[in-house]
Amino acid sequence: MRTSVPEGRVRRLRSRGDFFQMKRFLVSCSRALILAMAGLAFAAGVVPPFAGGDDDAAPGKASRGIVSHPPLVTSKAATRDIAFAEARPVLQTFSDELPADLQGLSAEELKKEWPDYVRRHDSEIRKRLLQGDEDSLVNLLLFGTSFTAQPRITGEFLSQAKQQPKAATAQKPGEDLLSRVLAARVSDLIAALAAPGENERLQYMRRLLEHKGLTFGTPAARDKVRQYFADGVKRVGSEFDEYRKAIEAAHATGDASTEFAARSTLYQKRGISLDTSIMPDYALEEALKLLLKRGLMTKGSVRHVAVIGPGLDFTDKQEGYDFYPQQTTQPFAVIDSLLRLGLAREGDLQVTTFDISPRVNQHLALIRQRAGTGSPYVLQLPLRKDKSWESGAKAFWEHLGEFVGSPAQPAVVPASVGKLDIRAVRVKPEIVLQVVPIDTNIVWQRQDLAADRRYDLVVATNILVYYDEFQQALALDNLQSMIRESGFLLTNNGLPEVPTLEMRQIGYSSTAYSDRSADGDHIIWYQHSAR
Ligand SMILES: C[S@@+](CC[C@H](N)C(=O)[O-])C[C@H]1O[C@@H](n2cnc3c(N)ncnc32)[C@H](O)[C@@H]1O
Repeated sequence: MRTSVPEGRVRRLRSRGDFFQMKRFLVSCSRALILAMAGLAFAAGVVPPFAGGDDDAAPGKASRGIVSHPPLVTSKAATRDIAFAEARPVLQTFSDELPADLQGLSAEELKKEWPDYVRRHDSEIRKRLLQGDEDSLVNLLLFGTSFTAQPRITGEFLSQAKQQPKAATAQKPGEDLLSRVLAARVSDLIAALAAPGENERLQYMRRLLEHKGLTFGTPAARDKVRQYFADGVKRVGSEFDEYRKAIEAAHATGDASTEFAARSTLYQKRGISLDTSIMPDYALEEALKLLLKRGLMTKGSVRHVAVIGPGLDFTDKQEGYDFYPQQTTQPFAVIDSLLRLGLAREGDLQVTTFDISPRVNQHLALIRQRAGTGSPYVLQLPLRKDKSWESGAKAFWEHLGEFVGSPAQPAVVPASVGKLDIRAVRVKPEIVLQVVPIDTNIVWQRQDLAADRRYDLVVATNILVYYDEFQQALALDNLQSMIRESGFLLTNNGLPEVPTLEMRQIGYSSTAYSDRSADGDHIIWYQHSAR
């Protein structure tokens, strides 16, 4: 039986950008680095010394979901699952390409099945966080400095290692610099995980490995952890190889819009990571500037803001810094931009964060608790010295935090990290208290809000790329219900346009971060425009 959706079918339009004719930015450009690295590491034969094939080598592979956390205290403001009637515009639009488990159902069956379907898929998405954590563990292995004195396996290191003659560095026949450094990093990380002390990153990763049935007590147990790391590096390498091929295929079409669309769903099957860095916040500020300049937004017009997926800087995706405490920057960077541009007034701004990650939500709940007792929140803002930043990007970094706090003592940069500029900002407790975290899966859930409480502005960077077009359209549907009429959604992904929804793409901005190719973001502007 054909799937039939009530009220017939509506032709789905792709969100086209005839305007994406300039630079081709990656969806999450920084991942290019690890892509290159993983590919190089793989190709350079780093993996074989400990590789044991494609099978899941982790013993006791327990897929019981994510590592457990203490109970979370967040806002009481409820979110709920999207109802069938609310999802109908999306179901209609996608009636020809519904997900396999919805195909072939009659309208009645679809309606009956919907609540279970939503629950099932919400839970599936949340399980992807565990895989994202495992990716972060690979980042920590390659880039971390808190557990080892070995060089970081960055792109620069790889170029250097490639040029080094094998004989100069080999300690065993046939061993090259890269293999040696990676093997030493693995040993150092295992030793540190065995006794993590006060290191919060190591404590978390140890729990994650224990959750997977891995232990550290005996040489045999540690060999299993070694094998797990080998498989992790290999897995990340092959995944990024697949992304590279997908991007190349999209690029080969010669159509920048098609390419951007392909990039916008690139991680739909990937583990969900919490990675975050400040440059997307710069692109958001540039978008806000333009919206203001063109009269699409006005001064003082922003009072309610939502940040979808604020993330947590665990081991920064570009460089994997682990020499300062974990932090979340986006909510504070967005508040800072809004105050700087005069779009919002301090004391008259509320920010809600929506995230599925207990770690992100917990972190925000904790810093709110501390702010309640008068403690500020210190953000560390590293910036590589060896990159030619665009002047605007450098200026954004220099001024970030001026409207939400005051300068603080930056963390000491370990010598092995390389040349870094670093600033720190002490965010005022009253600003921290303006941010309220809510556990929400934006694909499947929404918050019921009275018209005067709806959001003036929603930002969502590097989050919708984890979903296919059907799920992105559902997220758009949920967001529409929470954004006031004429309010905005700013995102660095191109979303499918659903004609029966009222979210319209009204423009875009393109922001380059440095002189490196593909280092920047397009921010697409969607507006809730009732017909
Ligand atoms: C890669 S991080 C991006 C962080 C930040 N927005 C940035 O651009 O730097 C993705 C974030 O989105 C969150 N996330 C992913 N899927 C989500 C969903 N369906 N609903 C809410 N949050 C989600 C993740 O938990 C994580 O915090």
